[in-house]
Amino acid sequence: MHFLDIDMTPQKDLRKIVDEAHAMKKARLGRSKGALDDEQPLAGQMVALIFEKPSTRTRVSFDVGVRQMGGQTMLLTGSEMQLGHGETIADTARVLSRYVDLIMIRTFEEATLLEMAEHASVPVINGLTNRTHPCQIMADIMTFEEHRGPIKGKKVVWCGDGNNVFASFAHAAKQFDFELIFTGPEPLDPQADLKGLYSIERNPSTAVMNADLVVADTWVSMHDPQSARERRHNQLRGYQVNAELLSKAKDESLFMHCLPAHRDDEATSEVMDGPHSVIFDEAENRLHAQKAVMRWCLGV
Ligand code: CP
Ligand code: NVA
Repeated sequence: MHFLDIDMTPQKDLRKIVDEAHAMKKARLGRSKGALDDEQPLAGQMVALIFEKPSTRTRVSFDVGVRQMGGQTMLLTGSEMQLGHGETIADTARVLSRYVDLIMIRTFEEATLLEMAEHASVPVINGLTNRTHPCQIMADIMTFEEHRGPIKGKKVVWCGDGNNVFASFAHAAKQFDFELIFTGPEPLDPQADLKGLYSIERNPSTAVMNADLVVADTWVSMHDPQSARERRHNQLRGYQVNAELLSKAKDESLFMHCLPAHRDDEATSEVMDGPHSVIFDEAENRLHAQKAVMRWCLGV
């Protein structure tokens, strides 16, 4: 099974993946990072990790996760592959399928991911595109539930750019049944096809009122032109998550950021390092959530 997006994965399977991630995390509590899991579901499996964009968390968490489950990994950089020199995605997918059991790809256009999935005879996982970042949100759901119990019915407020990470949150809002509010400037509204999955409140203070979870992300994503940087900063300054804004949320609210962050732009260091922040649990849970995603993909 491919793991391409949260809206393309059955609801009951998403639930199963998050539950399994919790159980797998618990089962290896206290072990060193390189220690193997008791179960070795990926024994004999080879996983290709393709990156056409930079990455720290996705790259390391997939690599470590595969090894903990007994599999092997191969890290590939788009520009160093023939893919970056004119070989088609379809041919790359067909060839890789002869060598590896699973493909994770981080790329630009969603069409690239979908073409890879269409022509690969092994499962393909979305490691981020310009449009979505489903693995991140699986880890975010896991992190919320680890701290606060079921996310169903909770109020989640996204502050800033209506970007790829927001899109996966919007898919998750429907699948996991929570309320999602977008607060940001109109020119940076989420992509049109997400309408109906969230509501908009332009005033950040009003939006954050009584929130269970407040989320921020970078104001300039990897696919955004650097020339848009100054304009975006001017548009988004009023949506910074700082202590004053967060004080409007519930006392027990959580703060999340997928990282990497630009400290004191989209969120202050005071918030990022403060008592509501779970950003490093979120980063850790990429590992556990993706291990469960890989098991689901391979049916092991
Ligand atoms: N959050 C996330 O995907 O981080 P990386 O870009 O470091 O992989
Ligand atoms: N929105 C960010 C997320 C990085 C993990 C980006 O696409 O650059």
